[in-house]
Parts: sequence; C-alpha cells; structure tokens
Amino acid sequence: MAEVVVRASPSLALIKYWGKQDPERNIPATPSLSLNLREFHSETRVVTHPGQDRMLVEGRELPPQRYHAFFENVRAFLGKQVFFHAESSNNFPTAAGLASSSSGFAALAWACVLAADGQADLEQVSALARLGSASAARAVFGGFVLLPAGAEHATQLQPPAFWPEIRILVVRLDARAKPLSSRQAMEQVRMTSPYYPAWVERSPHILEQALIALDARDISMLGHAVRNSYMSMFGTMLGADPPILYWKPESVAVIRACRQLREEGLNAWETMDAGPQVKILCLEHEVATIRERLVRLVPVLGESDCFVETRPGPGMKQIS
Ligand code: PMV
Repeated sequence: MAEVVVRASPSLALIKYWGKQDPERNIPATPSLSLNLREFHSETRVVTHPGQDRMLVEGRELPPQRYHAFFENVRAFLGKQVFFHAESSNNFPTAAGLASSSSGFAALAWACVLAADGQADLEQVSALARLGSASAARAVFGGFVLLPAGAEHATQLQPPAFWPEIRILVVRLDARAKPLSSRQAMEQVRMTSPYYPAWVERSPHILEQALIALDARDISMLGHAVRNSYMSMFGTMLGADPPILYWKPESVAVIRACRQLREEGLNAWETMDAGPQVKILCLEHEVATIRERLVRLVPVLGESDCFVETRPGPGMKQIS
C-alpha cells in the first residue's frame, strides 16, 4: 500500500481562538487570525489499513480517544470504510505551546484523504483538520489565515509575500510537554471562568482592529491587537477554577523586556499560547537588535540556544 507523506507548519495565532461554540464538532467560539511558522514543521506519514486505526506522535502511540472521532469523520467524508496507520514527527518540541497539534492534524487530514485516493479541496481539508484541533484548520494554508467564530474551515487572507518584512522571533523557554492540554484548559475556562463571556464578546472587536492593521501593514496597530488578544485570553484562564497558569518566571521576564523595548521605540510585540514559550512579532530590520537587547535585559536567555527566527511560510505540502 502506498505511503503518503505531508508536511505542514504550525499555525501561530496573532488573534487567539480560545473556547468552543460546539465542543462536539470543535467549532471555535472566537475568531482567530494566524500565520504559520516557516522554519517549523510536522511531517505525517499515512498508509491505509484494512481493519484498524493507529496514530503515533514522535514514536509514541496516542490514546484512541484522541483520534477515534477524527478518523470516523474522515471515513464519513470519504464515504469509504477505510482505516489508517499514521505517524507524525516534528522538528520542534511537541505539545509545548508551539502549536504542534495544528500542523500535525492539518498534515494528517490531507495525508488520509490522499492515502485513501479521495478528493478534497483545501477548505474541505481545513474542515477535517478542525475536527482534530481547531487551530489545525488554519495550518492547512500559508500566509495570513482567518478562522472566523462559528466557522467550519479557515481561509487564507494574504499570501506570505504580502508582508515580506514580518518576522516571528520564537523564544523557547521550556521544551517539556505542557501538563494541561489546550483542549482541557479551554473547557475548564468555558465552564468556570466568569471572564469567559466577556472574552467571547470582545474578541471580534480585537480581530477587527487586527484586520485593519494587517491591511495597512501597520505593525504597531497589529501589535496592539495581538497584545490585547493574548492578554485577554490569559485573563480568562486566571479567572478559571482552578486557575490555569502556563507562564514561567522567564516568560514574564521576556514580556516585561518586550515592553521595555517598545518604550525604546522598537516594534517587539509578544504573544503566548498554551505553554511558557514567548513569540515576538517584529520586523526583519529590528530582529538582531531585539535579540541583543533581550539577552541584556534577561541574561538567562544568553545561556542556551533559545531563539528561532521565523516568518510566514507556504501552506502544507505533499512530500511523497
Ligand atoms: O487548536 P488547539 O486545541 O490546539 O488550541 C489552540 C489554542 C491556542 O494556541 C492557545 C490559540 C490559537 O488560536 O492557536
């Protein structure tokens, strides 16, 4: 049986999805705007199998409840009783807040369709990927991508070349897997945080600002929206019972340092996800200065190779 290999880059949300409108179908309650990280990727290999599904990530078997519904949906879409053996690996830390599930499920969705000789356009692949992880709906596409609230699939807003100077400086602070998955954390927030309704109501307004900024390629306006979005998202987490805190002391040090850099006139706009890593939205010509200044302000960053400079890349690709 022919093996299919698909490669996809993880989707970094500038404006965050956090919370589900429909937990069963994994429909997002808030709109998100993202770009994918060109230097990172997941590679997923799939072969069809006559009687049973199997899914390995970095050589470790995932529990069937994590992928059963996903494969069932793929079968329903294909209209075929076909099973899959899938294996996924990443060239970056898995489940550590670097969106490995977004690239993993995007690549998996397309690889399954191809391995089963099925037909799907990118929007259909995006809708399938969403069933594994909503952020995966975005990782199907390259450039700047929108996943509206209540949507089944994402859409590409702009190709990577739209804003060639944009860079993301990833600051890796801890490569260990997070203790609480974003899936569990989101539900905990939705059920218990008094700030959750305000977050859902406010998100479209933050997105609106971000879209205006993106259109104008205005990094300072975009950065404001980026900061509003991630800080409001973490606000909902702090209000949950029990509260959720992904940040490490070093994460806070980098957040503070970015604020200092902005006071110095640099465009360094940080964001974070379900993990301690910090990602900084910036422009190509300021990356070197931002790195230097960060190491000065947070000396521990100079002790390890923690920076990765990346930029928006193309969408997923079939390798074989
Ligand atoms: O798609 P999930 O379940 O991995 O959740 C992603 C959540 C965030 O990374 C925090 C935000 C986002 O929009 O990617």
